[in-house]
Amino acid sequence: MANVVVVGAQWGDEGKGKIVDWLSERADVVVRFQGGHNAGHTLVIDGKVYKLHALPSGVVRGGKMSVIGNGVVLDPWHLIKEIETVQAQGVEISAETLMIAENTPLILPIHGELDRAREEAASAGTKIGTTGRGIGPAYEDKVGRRSIRVADLADEATLEARVDRALQHHNPLRRGLGIDEIDRDALLAQLKDIAPKILPYAAPVWKVLNEKRKAGKRILFEGAQGSLLDIDFGTYPFVTSSNVIAGQAATGSGIGPGAISYVLGIVKAYTTRVGEGPFPTELLDEDGQRLGERGHEFGTTTGRKRRCGWFDAALLRQTCATSGMTGIALTKLDVLDGFETLKICVGYDLDGDRLDYLPTAADQQARCKPIYEEMPGWSESTEGARSWADLPANAIKYVRRVEELIDCPVALLSTSPERDDTILVTDPFSD
Ligand code: IMP
Repeated sequence: MANVVVVGAQWGDEGKGKIVDWLSERADVVVRFQGGHNAGHTLVIDGKVYKLHALPSGVVRGGKMSVIGNGVVLDPWHLIKEIETVQAQGVEISAETLMIAENTPLILPIHGELDRAREEAASAGTKIGTTGRGIGPAYEDKVGRRSIRVADLADEATLEARVDRALQHHNPLRRGLGIDEIDRDALLAQLKDIAPKILPYAAPVWKVLNEKRKAGKRILFEGAQGSLLDIDFGTYPFVTSSNVIAGQAATGSGIGPGAISYVLGIVKAYTTRVGEGPFPTELLDEDGQRLGERGHEFGTTTGRKRRCGWFDAALLRQTCATSGMTGIALTKLDVLDGFETLKICVGYDLDGDRLDYLPTAADQQARCKPIYEEMPGWSESTEGARSWADLPANAIKYVRRVEELIDCPVALLSTSPERDDTILVTDPFSD
């Protein structure tokens, strides 16, 4: 049995798309287990670019089963559009190859409106910088027990009752925010219209996954966002609204934690963040600008410019621990080519004390100053390297030092967006 969980180990945008695609070729089933269409995964296959938000990356590979698990919040209108877009690119999607958990909560148009209205109304310092896709409000409805779930679309009476329950909460809230109330019949009509397009994909995912597991099929759990955006372990409140760390693969799909044999953390060779919130190693100088330009650091979902900074080994140690990382895939090493000196954050100075982790309290986080270790850079290009022999000595030293500092081995090293530009150390799927 070899079932692999892939999680982002920083603030998202670590280059998961390419690694997940690489691994999905070896998998039978690919499962999304949290988040929604706030994610943006870019896959480059034979020069063709696929941009996925809600669909598991496995869809673009023939012969795989793609699964949207119950831990996801699903915008059904967005999903249908995304399916049509990739179908127009020649990808085959059918009820045989795509499954959606019946207990997946839906993102409704009211969730996106609420998300955006709150962000607009927020004062400086309290804005989260969300993607505006309604993720937070949809998860609030889930834990508030007033979600409309995929299975509810199949029965008119249930659907009406669920809509009434949701609107009992949302309409007073909207009045308070000065937004028009929702028209019950119009929302019902929208849901009844989309239902027949979504229901063919609905399935008891927990059951199918457990059957696949027993049959010895290889399952890949594809995380979105990054561990530092986790609702519990991230830089709260500047986080997303789901658990992002590896444990969520079990609860977000209905498979027991014992099914997971390998946790792969995706780690960028430097650090980026989109949206607001603490970022101890952020660079607001020329070096930050250079990382952003060389790394093409613009969000796939919102097009926003990403904030850039040096590699933070202290934060990585933290995320390797909370996800129980077995190994990491280090990406975008080539973006560091040409820097004379590289810095790695190894801990923080908090009011004169040295810490080896980022404390939880916001005021302490704000006072933490990174303690850096400096390493010599390299002038040679590492872009497209496919073996250790292709790498300059200083690049190898950098990778080895990262492994040492985060106490986790490199399993894969990615040196360009092309899938074959990868150095394989350990195959996470090998039993
Ligand atoms: P939300 O997930 O739209 O609620 O946004 C909450 C925070 O998570 C914001 O800082 C977003 O920029 C960030 N975020 C959400 N999804 C992603 C992602 O896929 N990559 C990077 N950041 C993300």
